[in-house]
Amino acid sequence: MFEVREKPTLVERALLVGVYFAKEDEAESRSLLEELQELVQTLAIPVADKLLVRAQKHHAAYLMGTGKAREVIDFAKSLACDCIIFDNELSPAQQRTLEREADLCVIDRQEVILDIFNQRARTSEARLQVELARLQYSLPRLARMWRHLDRQSGGVGGRGEGEKQLEIDRRLARQRIDRLKRDLTALRRQRGSRRKERERLPLPHAAIVGYTNAGKSTLLNRLTGSNILAEDKLFATLDTTTRRLTLPDGQPLLLTDTVGFVRRLPHRLVEAFKATLEEALLADFLIHVLDASQPSVFQQYDTTRQVLQELGADEKRTLVVLNKFDLIEDAGWKRSLERSFPGAPLVSARTGYGLDQLLQNMNTMLFDRVQRANLRFPQTRHDLLARIHREGKVLRCDYEGDDMLVQAVLPLRLLDPFREFVSPAFGAPAPRAP
Ligand code: GTP
Repeated sequence: MFEVREKPTLVERALLVGVYFAKEDEAESRSLLEELQELVQTLAIPVADKLLVRAQKHHAAYLMGTGKAREVIDFAKSLACDCIIFDNELSPAQQRTLEREADLCVIDRQEVILDIFNQRARTSEARLQVELARLQYSLPRLARMWRHLDRQSGGVGGRGEGEKQLEIDRRLARQRIDRLKRDLTALRRQRGSRRKERERLPLPHAAIVGYTNAGKSTLLNRLTGSNILAEDKLFATLDTTTRRLTLPDGQPLLLTDTVGFVRRLPHRLVEAFKATLEEALLADFLIHVLDASQPSVFQQYDTTRQVLQELGADEKRTLVVLNKFDLIEDAGWKRSLERSFPGAPLVSARTGYGLDQLLQNMNTMLFDRVQRANLRFPQTRHDLLARIHREGKVLRCDYEGDDMLVQAVLPLRLLDPFREFVSPAFGAPAPRAP
């Protein structure tokens, strides 16, 4: 089987480089470079230093001018780095040219993110999606990989040998891509039928979305008492997880945790995860979790909104949640958050602070979907009572003769099937079963 080679795991010391072109982009580039450092550390690659470079204009060959490129390479060598990691997206040709010039491994943010996703994918679908995205990224870069590997093994084989091998690799990669696409289509078909099964028991459903590390999994764990992976690592969760929760008024809600977003998320990964996310985005509403302790919270908010827009989910009703309140000490910062996100509850998924308010807000999001009802039906109809228990909430249950008198909170969609049993004052006897 063809496999993408694990270059970054070979890296021992990296120099991180962010290139920007206009003065006004400096601050954004600096914060992106900080974030790149976290991403790279997630892969356990030691970072020797970070370098922010201002270039006059975009150069096709080296991204920046030759002089600047030389300075970057010399700096990397003076630090004994074996790899330069660019925050900017590099074309396959730029990557090749820079590697040739530096005689060092050169990679970009996209590749780092793809490798993190590769380490994190757990379910078979996520693994296939990530492998597909990595292969599509690698296909135009295979020539460079061979060069890299030849150098490591001291250049085994002649030039003709390498090219032959390259052709074989390209063919294998294309075959594997076709195979992965077929497998994914089959898996999606299966998931489609699972979704239909769930639709037969349609409970209200909310999806938790947000930037990576915002605290989505921790919040889901807190709210549902479950134990899914929450780590101080970027993209700890790649697969969607759904748990059931009971809201303060007693009605059930399904809550789904989704993959985190990040600035400059490789487009093919957004594409790859569209299918996984789509299911979550069929939700009744979204819970957008923000790490309110981060100065970049506004950019993180914008990034998540942009990805949601790409997924066609930006119009969905959304509850914004300001998480990690326990880390906020500055009252001025708190005020500015409250001004920018009016009505958004300040919570701490870690300590549990503010979660009662959040649950109330979640309840409010569903108000237009439920109604109280008094129902009367024969005691023999245990199936009806069981259905209310499953999909709504039984507030009270009494018996009168052969009837059951049930006070319930019902989702609106259940009103129709239960209409014949609605009995405002519990007055009239229930219609007899035939
Ligand atoms: P991805 O899987 O990367 O999308 O991350 P996530 O949004 O699911 O974040 P996760 O729940 O994994 O939390 C990331 C880190 O933040 C973990 O170390 C959590 O313990 C921490 N964390 C989450 N919520 C809080 C909070 O309210 N306060 C503090 N101090 N830390 C929190």
